[in-house]
Amino acid sequence: MDPTKGEKDDAQKKAERLMKKLGISGKYNLTEHEMCMAANLVDPLTVASSWEDIGGLTHTIEDIQETVILPFKRRELFQTSNLIQPPKGVLLYGPPGCGKTMIAKAIAKSANACFINLQIASLKDKWYGESQKRAEAVFTLATKLQPSIIFIDEIDSFLRARSSMDHEATSLLKTQFMSFWDGLMTDSRCSIMIIGATNRPQDLDAAILRRMPAMFHVGLPDALQRAEILDLILQDEPVADDVDLNEIADEALNYSGSDLKELCRNAAIYRIREFVKAEREAGLAHYSEGEEYCDAQTDLALHQLRPINGNDFQRALVKMRESNHFTRTGLPQNIELD
Ligand SMILES: Nc1ncnc2c1ncn2[C@@H]1O[C@H](COP(=O)(O)OP(=O)(O)O)[C@@H](O)[C@H]1O
Ligand SMILES: [Mg+2]
Repeated sequence: MDPTKGEKDDAQKKAERLMKKLGISGKYNLTEHEMCMAANLVDPLTVASSWEDIGGLTHTIEDIQETVILPFKRRELFQTSNLIQPPKGVLLYGPPGCGKTMIAKAIAKSANACFINLQIASLKDKWYGESQKRAEAVFTLATKLQPSIIFIDEIDSFLRARSSMDHEATSLLKTQFMSFWDGLMTDSRCSIMIIGATNRPQDLDAAILRRMPAMFHVGLPDALQRAEILDLILQDEPVADDVDLNEIADEALNYSGSDLKELCRNAAIYRIREFVKAEREAGLAHYSEGEEYCDAQTDLALHQLRPINGNDFQRALVKMRESNHFTRTGLPQNIELD
């Protein structure tokens, strides 16, 4: 009896559902292991973020589109010369919360290639030899489905520099993974690209870095970029006229994209809190547990809710400073890296 059978069956069912949605169900003759790995496929239609949602990275995005997207979309142009062969490995690196995963999602949405979002946990199996079979299946699956992209987020957690402390099975898995990867690099006809993302490129095995010749730095945004990101985050929110995004961007020194989102979320909540408080004080809020809030009241509430104002942002900035969000980006305060 195989105790992991339930988990495998689930993966296969998920893979079948996904392949049906992608319109490739029954098109390929996949092995059991390949089916298991196919559960990591991404349906581009369900990916929420696209290039338009990424702020302040125009040049990086242009570079990535040329290097990653164009070879998949216009394969004929790249077949003319050996010199311009698309890279088989691409690394996105930079501090956390600056848009690496967002970029990967946008690639999945727009590349016109099968996108395998490889969850390392899906490789791990306690049965001897099973993990290696799965690792191999990732590559054989990508080959069958090509053109394809294998994305490994936080690749450092899997392929960090090999050390003598590694568990034997882990280091064997890494070694095998690398050798499958090499098989792919030497086959010039295959159109498979591996994309990795990491906050800690210094932890990556040198051998891995060599396999990813195209590197893109996704760094902390400068003041101008921060203003762009704020503009994007707030595009569908009611913002008062007294809010100057450039001023906020100046004050949000060393904030990452995700810090800016947190700042906006904090700023946007005050007006809700105030509204509910005022309502309670006026005795207007007579909706109790289980009672539906009727449409007329909802309209009224939306109408009376004030926009997010400059003061909200000031309070949110103070709050962010107090909660010391820099512990997350790991940077000391007052150092502008622009
Ligand atoms: N350049 C950006 N433009 C808009 N939002 C951003 C940007 N960078 C980060 N964010 C916000 O922060 C969140 C985390 O970003 P993510 O791409 O996961 O960062 P990481 O670089 O750590 O992978 C995103 O979901 C988004 O809301
Ligand atoms: Mg990420």
